Amino acid sequence: MQPVASITRDDVRRVGAGFHPDPGRSLSLHADAYTDRRWFDADLEAIFSRTWQWVCHIEQLREPGSFVTAEIAHLPIAVVRARDGSLRAFFNVCKHRAHELLSGAGRVRSIVCPYHAWVYDLDGRLRRARGTGRMAAFDTSEICLEPVRVEEFGGFVYVNLDPTAAPLGEQAGDLAREIERWAPDVADLTHATRLTYDIAANWKSVIDNFLECYHCHVAHKEFVELVDMDTYKVRTHGIWSSHFAEAGKRENAAYDVSTATVNQHAVWWLWPNTCLLRYPGRGNFMVLQVVPASTDRTLETWDFYFETPEPNDAERQAIRYIDEVLQRQDIAIVESVHRGMQTPAFTQGRIVYDPAGSGLSEHAVHHFHGLVLEAYRSLLAEEGEPRAPQRRRRGSLARGGVSSAHGASAISSVRATVLSIEAGSSPSNEVSHTPFWRMSMSVARRSHSAGARLGLAARMRPARPDR
Ligand code: FES
Ligand SMILES: [Fe+2]
Repeated sequence: MQPVASITRDDVRRVGAGFHPDPGRSLSLHADAYTDRRWFDADLEAIFSRTWQWVCHIEQLREPGSFVTAEIAHLPIAVVRARDGSLRAFFNVCKHRAHELLSGAGRVRSIVCPYHAWVYDLDGRLRRARGTGRMAAFDTSEICLEPVRVEEFGGFVYVNLDPTAAPLGEQAGDLAREIERWAPDVADLTHATRLTYDIAANWKSVIDNFLECYHCHVAHKEFVELVDMDTYKVRTHGIWSSHFAEAGKRENAAYDVSTATVNQHAVWWLWPNTCLLRYPGRGNFMVLQVVPASTDRTLETWDFYFETPEPNDAERQAIRYIDEVLQRQDIAIVESVHRGMQTPAFTQGRIVYDPAGSGLSEHAVHHFHGLVLEAYRSLLAEEGEPRAPQRRRRGSLARGGVSSAHGASAISSVRATVLSIEAGSSPSNEVSHTPFWRMSMSVARRSHSAGARLGLAARMRPARPDR
């Protein structure tokens, strides 16, 4: 086991060798970035410790006192709607002796610790602590739950453990406007169902596959009937990319769209692991969250939001198509790619690029790889290397993890935005009390129980689904 800090500029140069700003001249990331544990650790620290992570639909947090708990980077988080209407997020950890406070999701008047019944207001301030009345030096006003960044964005709630991260609305305001344009009903939709998957591949292969439809004609024969591939366009933006196509004009083998009111296939990817989708059909929105569990294992949650909690027949067909056809096809692909990545026969491959941005182009994969390389560079100190481990800050732990509550999922985040990486922001050189690599080891040990920790187990697929 190597500490993350052992990653050097030469290592970063090596995994990015052949990456060219022009996708038409570029190679993909080196296979080591997908198969080597050191790079998985780097992913957690450089990427998942610094980014906005999707938690749930806003419908779960509308009323004062409503709350959702989640596990972000294996850290317990609670998001709460406070009495004044503001959204608050905290580490879900009591300030007395560290017991977890809330569980699942629901609604409370105040936050009462199940251990010794300290009572916190919905804004996190300690209101009462049993038996402290006679203590000379105990001031409840000095105690408050540890806050976490939280933001409502495009109808959903995101958190970021990095206290210095730029707001998601600043980083991707144009994405929010685009979602508003193409899915103006998103905040009014309601959760219908969740699918979960357990995939024997690195998370980056899953994202790569999501970001190109070059494989669609070959691997997804039903999908290329569902949408009009002649209209398929892929566009990249700062920290997100989009895939648009008109719905297909003919009958298709995927699901019935004869009564569709949404006639666009609109898909967005938000750096690093959130996929937002609107398919042809009735008003709908889907969130596919890609959660790294280990170098070789990725968990996915696929949440469906419809006009009603009960899907109609066409939506049931759509869910079945996604679960039993599309996802099986894609999971088989990425697991095969992951096996291939581990052979000496492959190190890097060419990015296929269509300057017209058609569905045959892989420039969104290239865009993703560029963001990954930028994030890796951020691991290196401006001067000297290897970099000393970062000082452990509150919430700056980066470990694989997923949510424990409905609609919540993720791995998370700590500091700056990816946009600031190249601005020469100098990571702290203070020595960590809990070195990051040690935390990462615990991810590996616990990865096999991650599904159960998530409450996903009942619907979790086997690592290699039948196909
Ligand atoms: S740990 Fe919460 S009240 Fe004691
Ligand atoms: Fe696919």
